[in-house]
Amino acid sequence: MPDDVWPEPAYVVRTKRLELRCYERSDVATVHEVILDNTEALRPWMPWIQHEPMSLEERGELLRAFRARFDAGEDFIYGVFDRDGGAYIGGCGLHPRVGARALEIGYWIAEDRWGQGLATELAAALTRVGFERMEAERMEIRVVPHNTRSLAVPRKLGYTREGTLRGVLDRARDGRDDLVVFGMLLDELDESPAAYAPIELEGFLPDA
Ligand SMILES: CC(C)(COP(=O)(O)OP(=O)(O)OC[C@H]1O[C@@H](n2cnc3c(N)ncnc32)[C@H](O)[C@@H]1OP(=O)(O)O)[C@@H](O)C(=O)NCCC(=O)NCCS
Repeated sequence: MPDDVWPEPAYVVRTKRLELRCYERSDVATVHEVILDNTEALRPWMPWIQHEPMSLEERGELLRAFRARFDAGEDFIYGVFDRDGGAYIGGCGLHPRVGARALEIGYWIAEDRWGQGLATELAAALTRVGFERMEAERMEIRVVPHNTRSLAVPRKLGYTREGTLRGVLDRARDGRDDLVVFGMLLDELDESPAAYAPIELEGFLPDA
């Protein structure tokens, strides 16, 4: 398979407490509200926050573009929802921007849900999805060096801290930041707690 062609992605990933799924039209208003409520909590860590606050129309365009890229097999951005009740509580993704047959996991969680192990739960699930469904040979998580909450996530999953890329993150008026790179190779999955993460997947056509 060519390096820029991926298998059919999972459109829905269910974990014990979460449902990660590709965005839909009906998500726009809720996503808009939750991101506006969390702008200050996310500002130190998520470079895209420099474009906030955006309008509802811009949010719609953005989610439509995420959806288009997901459907085209270019980038796999998921909304994070409570499995029970369906509340929207964050975003995550599998990003093919870190080299051949490699995927980077990104994540954020709404502030009122921090500290419940949810980021670790979704990153474990996406680690499995990356290796098992997407046939990646390497998974990465990149974290700003002083983001202690986020540094804990790849550590808990047995990722190897490989090094620090200096000044690689451009946060516009807030300057540049370093990124710590954590990596896991395919043959290391079995050693990781992620290997045992319970997941249920649905493709574009849900299983009958
Ligand atoms: C980073 C983030 C995703 C973590 O989400 P979360 O669901 O709270 O993460 P988890 O509960 O799975 O793990 C957080 C870990 O942070 C650590 N932690 C918790 N509170 C902390 C604190 N006040 N200071 C430092 N570390 C803390 C703990 O080690 C915890 O692990 P534990 O389960 O062993 O106790 C969330 O805080 C967030 O969205 N932050 C803003 C966006 C962001 O930074 N995204 C990541 C970019 S790389």
